[in-house]
Amino acid sequence: MILSKEHCEKAAEFRYFAEKNIDCGDNYPRANLHRAAEKGYMGLPIPRQYGGLGEDFLTYILFIEEVSRVCASTGVIMAVHTSVGSMPLLYFGSEEQKRRYLVKLARGEYIGAFALTEPDAGSDAAAISTGARPVHGGYRLTGRKIFITSGGEADLYTVFATIDTSLGRKGITAFLVEKGSPGLTVGRTESKMGLHRTHTAELLMEDLYVPVSNRLEKEGKGFSVAMSLLDGGRIGIAAQGLGIAAAALDYGIFFLKKRADWKEGNGQGKRFELANLATRLEAARLLTYRAAANRDAGKGKAMEASMAKTAATDLAMEAASWCIETCSFEGIIQGSPPVRFFCDAKATQIYEGTNQIQRIVIARSCSEVRGS
Ligand code: CAA
Repeated sequence: MILSKEHCEKAAEFRYFAEKNIDCGDNYPRANLHRAAEKGYMGLPIPRQYGGLGEDFLTYILFIEEVSRVCASTGVIMAVHTSVGSMPLLYFGSEEQKRRYLVKLARGEYIGAFALTEPDAGSDAAAISTGARPVHGGYRLTGRKIFITSGGEADLYTVFATIDTSLGRKGITAFLVEKGSPGLTVGRTESKMGLHRTHTAELLMEDLYVPVSNRLEKEGKGFSVAMSLLDGGRIGIAAQGLGIAAAALDYGIFFLKKRADWKEGNGQGKRFELANLATRLEAARLLTYRAAANRDAGKGKAMEASMAKTAATDLAMEAASWCIETCSFEGIIQGSPPVRFFCDAKATQIYEGTNQIQRIVIARSCSEVRGS
């Protein structure tokens, strides 16, 4: 699949925006988010009637790739905000919920986040134990969520809880929880090896009241809601991986060009490594863009999202490692771009479903399609 002229123009617009407006500093990138909101980019794939720009999902993916090329932390905050922070409202919200929340998210007045993972429910998402006890007019949520991207910074969380653990995944239900709700506190904020500008925090819920009007979809539909949102989220993380990989290759090439053997036309080993990585980058792009385009066409498949995520984020890790080796000692200096690419890339293989989980999804789908 090759991008249309309009998509190429959008990609160029996003590259220009990212290079001019996205900084790769040390602190939470509030200014980056603000500048993106000014251009409407916090609601790129959200329809105009709900405050967004009404672009397709593929256009949004091109945006995440370009932002992540400059700052992967900003990239993941925006990816989570959009694919699993705003899309829950778009796909599953009532008209009233869309008016109440989606408009603010699309305009960047609210930052969205996704609270699924628990201490005993990471890869096995169906094992969550945060309880949602039905009470008059709503539910009381009690439990603990961990490793939540934008935890503490976000204004709206899509929280998954179970109305009855004995029902297994059939009890899981999705709720919209606003920052500052009584009973919601932010626990430990993690110190991570990479993505230093993102807040990854624990959320503690103690008898947190959620009115029925903040339940998303029907009771028991939460697991399917989470899985279908993650299909989109994984394409976003694939785009983040593409951005990191592209940045690592560009940085390594800049270094190579200064080497005497390269200038003399030698350095064959490095040329072969570069050729392999550059080819894989194009292949990962095609997988990612195809997954996004099929989602736009209503033909999105979990397998395609998982393939894109695995290919792009494994590549990001290898490209970052190559960048470090290419830059030699300068590549391992703390705070240098190669170290940043390497440490940021590792997280992309882990969140939104580890790449081992992606392989389970791919293998299952392959055996359904190909098995007889
Ligand atoms: N879309 C819609 N529904 C889906 C689906 C999809 N992609 N995949 C599964 N389902 C539905 C199935 O149809 C099935 O429905 P019924 O019960 O009605 O038949 C149900 O969900 C169960 O499906 P499975 O049998 O496949 O479920 P499973 O328990 O075997 O789990 C899994 C599958 C793929 C391992 C899943 O648990 C999973 O994806 N785990 C990883 C969790 C994850 O990605 N966490 C990321 C946290 S968020 C994050 O990281 C954000 C961040 O900070 C950056």
